[in-house]
Amino acid sequence: MKSLNRREFMKFAALGTSAAALAACATPTAAPGAAPAAGSTAASGAAAGGGQLEIFSWWTSGGEVEALNALYDIYSAQYPDVEIVNAALTGGAGQGGNMKALLETRMQGGQPPDSFQVHLGRELIDSHVVPGRMEDLSFLYEEEGLNDVFPQDLIDIASYEGKPYSVPVNIHRSNVLWYRPSKLEAAGVAVAPTTWDEFFAAAELLKTAGIPALAVAENEPNFSGHVFENILITQLDQAGYLGLFDGTTSWEDERVTRSLEILNQAYDYANQDYLSTSWGDINDRFVADDGPAMMIMGDWTHGVLLSKAFSDYRWAPAPDTAGMFMVLSDSFGLPNNAPDRDNAVNFLRVCGSREGQDAFNPIKGSIPARTDPDLSKYDEYLLSAMEDFKNNTLLPSIQHGAAVKQSFVLDYAIAINNLATNRDVAAAQAMLVQAATDAEFSA
Ligand code: GAL
Repeated sequence: MKSLNRREFMKFAALGTSAAALAACATPTAAPGAAPAAGSTAASGAAAGGGQLEIFSWWTSGGEVEALNALYDIYSAQYPDVEIVNAALTGGAGQGGNMKALLETRMQGGQPPDSFQVHLGRELIDSHVVPGRMEDLSFLYEEEGLNDVFPQDLIDIASYEGKPYSVPVNIHRSNVLWYRPSKLEAAGVAVAPTTWDEFFAAAELLKTAGIPALAVAENEPNFSGHVFENILITQLDQAGYLGLFDGTTSWEDERVTRSLEILNQAYDYANQDYLSTSWGDINDRFVADDGPAMMIMGDWTHGVLLSKAFSDYRWAPAPDTAGMFMVLSDSFGLPNNAPDRDNAVNFLRVCGSREGQDAFNPIKGSIPARTDPDLSKYDEYLLSAMEDFKNNTLLPSIQHGAAVKQSFVLDYAIAINNLATNRDVAAAQAMLVQAATDAEFSA
């Protein structure tokens, strides 16, 4: 498989097909990069005089909370008179998440928070920049020297028409298999599976030992959407995968069918109550004595497990994805008319700083977006992720807003949830095909 180098990855993620379509139906509140509201000026970096700083995110799980607090601590040390209002709400990884719904309402109502978590890529650009809701951050990139410390491809993914609109705090990897060595051992599985064939062989042994092989949390759409994107890339090559979003690969393709079949088979080995288990609860299940042996999830799981001081786990690429790195990135931006604009700008300075990234990422389970981290702060997993990010084929995540616009993410996650519920591959595939039609993918 040919490697998508950084430049190709950038081109794909930054110049996706959906911006124009969305622009056509969005009601702009201002042109992207429009001047800030009267009275607000670009912060000089001087300490803000007080007031509030309201930050939206969906970081409410272990690891996420502590990582965000690490940013707040740095901020508060510099701006002790600013009151931080942490408006974190659970459920954001999918389009329907509570945080995103409330954010949408506030943005549409002209009452934005001061800053908010947003995935780099189509989620940022299509949902917020194209409709004209965000400030151009060129001034901040210049003042903070960010153009020199973020990889250019990442800056381009954060940019629209050549201007950056958010500050990435991290790089997460989606395609990780987390496993519990003690459970594999108990079932006589010598090594973690590297392929789906090995996975199913191990799953049979685990079943015999009364251990669910795979953790699934599908009481609502999203978790399975995450697992499925990491199966799709095992059946489609890179061009085929990217083609799913520009109409050059049909969602009717038999490789999509095969991917659905693999996931459908995997449900046979999941925790039996997966339809009543929530994404928020799955980590407690994973660490429980009677929990599942493996979980395909992003590397925030590392942060969550660290926060539980849990150590009976290891990691490997999700089955059949060695050499691939499914990428997503969390970032923070500056909405037009942020009520405490100077405070928000100073928060973005912390997000982009070396100190901020080196405090946040080792706790979050992600690697820094900056290229100059203090490596002594990163553990074995994170150092390996940094290596893989440099050397692997990079692919943009569907479920986490990198590859494709939010309306499709919602339909996609619902289609996969339908598979989890009804176990009907043809019906789920028909829903995916319809979702792609509705999204009007074209090159
Ligand atoms: C992702 C997000 C991660 C993590 C994860 C689970 O969408 O990028 O930072 O929060 O959801 O909640």
